[in-house]
Amino acid sequence: MSVAVVTGAAGGIGAGLAREAVRRGMKVVLADRDAAMLDQVAAPLGERALAVATDVTDPAAVESLADAAWDRFGSVDLLFNNAGVLVTGTTWEIPKASWEKAWAVNVEGVLNCLRTFVPRMLAAGTPSRIVNTASVGGFLPSPMMSPYSATKFAVVALTESLHGELQAMDAPIAVSLLAPGPVKSGIFRETPPESARGFHSTMTGMLEENGLTGDEFAPLVLDAVARGEYWIIPQPMTFDDGFAARNAQITARQTPQFQLLRDE
Ligand SMILES: NC(=O)c1ccc[n+]([C@@H]2O[C@H](COP(=O)([O-])OP(=O)(O)OC[C@H]3O[C@@H](n4cnc5c(N)ncnc54)[C@H](O)[C@@H]3O)[C@@H](O)[C@H]2O)c1
Repeated sequence: MSVAVVTGAAGGIGAGLAREAVRRGMKVVLADRDAAMLDQVAAPLGERALAVATDVTDPAAVESLADAAWDRFGSVDLLFNNAGVLVTGTTWEIPKASWEKAWAVNVEGVLNCLRTFVPRMLAAGTPSRIVNTASVGGFLPSPMMSPYSATKFAVVALTESLHGELQAMDAPIAVSLLAPGPVKSGIFRETPPESARGFHSTMTGMLEENGLTGDEFAPLVLDAVARGEYWIIPQPMTFDDGFAARNAQITARQTPQFQLLRDE
């Protein structure tokens, strides 16, 4: 892999991925709607990095991002659909605008990038990979953040559909689903409503205590990319038991139980 595009690259996981890709000798196009933070991340990376302020919910902006990437580096063979947002609150209290933003960024943002990049990668005809970021939460739904759970489940599903389509075409584009566990980042930056304060502080405390930094997390992802893995789940200790338990619960038709809420 020689040229990577990373959306949501202004902080957290995306910034870590961009830095690690450059460390491994790749050229990187960093995209984020936060132009100022993006420039701060990109500047130390020098000539191998290009920052392109991009709102992934805007199809025209995503087209401009792709134009900029091909103009500067001549190809794109690794696309990280990483930009994402999270809000907390009860399902019925989270405002419609916040629900719409979650769909717009977490799902439509990924689709906009696929609509723009897949045809260009197919036309290039050279081996490439698309890594869509869901979450462990895309397999294990959580109370108090249902827009996140719902949109990340959607990313898990659409990514498998995408993979099946490209595989059926014998396309040279490989696909990966990335499901991070806790990583220190700005993902919980939105102020919670009163009803979600306890949950929000439990979650931010858990990220601080157990989270990897973006720079610790990124090498695990790029190693999995180098191995050609579809399922990139770098923190299995946060996934395997919960996923097995959920599957067993559904198989046994057991009602879901949520420990986290009871402990608050
Ligand atoms: N941090 C975690 O514990 C964790 C766990 C599982 C999954 N994830 C996922 O990892 C990805 C990266 O998140 P992070 O934890 O680094 O959080 P973060 O908030 O630090 O980074 C997300 C970045 O996306 C950008 N962004 C948001 N909306 C955008 C838009 N419309 N267009 C372009 N950029 C936009 C933000 O400006 C931000 O820089 C997200 O998809 C998130 O859901 C994170």
